[in-house]
Amino acid sequence: MAFEPVLLRNVGKPGVRQVAGYREAGGYKGLEKALGMEPDAVIEEVKASGLRGRGGAGFPAGLKWSFIPKGNDKPKYLVCNADESEPGTFKDRILMEQDPQQLIEGCAICCWAVSANTCYIYIRGEYVEQAEILEEAIRDAYANGILGDDVMGSGFKLDMYVHRGAGAYICGEETGMLESLEGRRGQPRIKPPFPAVVGAFGCPTVINNVETLCNVPHILERGADWYKSIGTDERNTGPKLYCVSGHVEKPGTYEFPIGVTMNQLIDTCGGMWRGAKLKAFIPGGASAAILPAKHADLPLDFDQLAKAGSMLGSAAVIVMDENTDIVRAVHRLAKFFNHESCGQCTPCREGTNWSELVLKKILAGKGNPGDAELILRICRNMGGTTLCALADAAVGPLRSLVQNFPEEIAAWIDNGGAGAEPRRYFAEEVLV
Ligand SMILES: Cc1cc2nc3c(=O)[nH]c(=O)nc-3n(C[C@H](O)[C@H](O)[C@H](O)COP(=O)(O)O)c2cc1C
Repeated sequence: MAFEPVLLRNVGKPGVRQVAGYREAGGYKGLEKALGMEPDAVIEEVKASGLRGRGGAGFPAGLKWSFIPKGNDKPKYLVCNADESEPGTFKDRILMEQDPQQLIEGCAICCWAVSANTCYIYIRGEYVEQAEILEEAIRDAYANGILGDDVMGSGFKLDMYVHRGAGAYICGEETGMLESLEGRRGQPRIKPPFPAVVGAFGCPTVINNVETLCNVPHILERGADWYKSIGTDERNTGPKLYCVSGHVEKPGTYEFPIGVTMNQLIDTCGGMWRGAKLKAFIPGGASAAILPAKHADLPLDFDQLAKAGSMLGSAAVIVMDENTDIVRAVHRLAKFFNHESCGQCTPCREGTNWSELVLKKILAGKGNPGDAELILRICRNMGGTTLCALADAAVGPLRSLVQNFPEEIAAWIDNGGAGAEPRRYFAEEVLV
């Protein structure tokens, strides 16, 4: 499937990490255009493009920007979410290391639109190299008048900082991230008030994902109509990065119009690993429901996946072949969520622990006939009962195990594991 890359167009081009090289490749035209427009007109253009957040929830970016109160009584902030901690996700890393000026441009346009004079890029602690690349790119942007007291000669003032996290999934959740940014333990806040009203340091704050912001320069430069012409429909627009991992020959980050199918992605990845058959896939990172192979022709966009009972999330597509043990795979994910729960809310702290223990017991050959129902009961207690969506994220794979793969769990419970014995390898060995 041929597609002229938009977000990844500068990958591998020498010199684009510096302002001069990025400009030579066509960069900074979007910011130039935005600075010549009224901030509200920039917001309207982003709204008209239909751009939805690429960090997980798919919230319309322009609408979020429009929630920032007008007036100068309080400073405003942009916090770019570069925590990229959803298992299976590795798209923001590519954008930051290959084309950091594209991100700086997107951040600068957003700051102009909402009148923010300070931007923090909150990056996960493990991304040491990417943080250094960003810091170098920001220094170069200051030296070339893209950042500082007079952005591109417009009189607009903008400072940008890279803030390193310490490697916690919960710090990717927007309010946990704000707590961490302010120097406290990364525990989510009660909403409302939402960050657009009370965010960083008690001030109005936009929080957007790296990929979301990288779309913005292209929308400004080429217009909302061009942007809308890419994708499946007016609710699912623009280019999208898909991170493909698991049982394919060539895993990696691939760019397509939003709404590519699983089968098209597998073809692009050189087919299934060792020619095995597809059994299942996770379309949107560890917190998305696992779908059986029959959905492989479904467009991977926000709405079609929601209709199928899963979600696009961060578009981390994990491919599982016929030899994968889904119970073991879900146990591995349950272990992750248990480890990463911040422990603040009881249903999440207890539920993530219990779900891991029940699956561990089943895998030890000690499952009971009521265990599938027990897992669903744990899910019911966790879903929608907590301050943040980590508990809902943990529920995604658990519920889909029982609902979409009842025969897998029955094989373990009825035969004490014998049903799953002949498998060549287990997802746990691949996913660790
Ligand atoms: C537990 C948890 C972890 C999250 N991790 C990330 C993350 O690593 N990166 C990200 O962009 N969004 C993450 N999110 C979503 C953010 O809370 C927020 O919705 C997002 O940054 C908004 O940006 P967007 O509108 O551009 O998608 C996470 C949410 C939850 C509940």
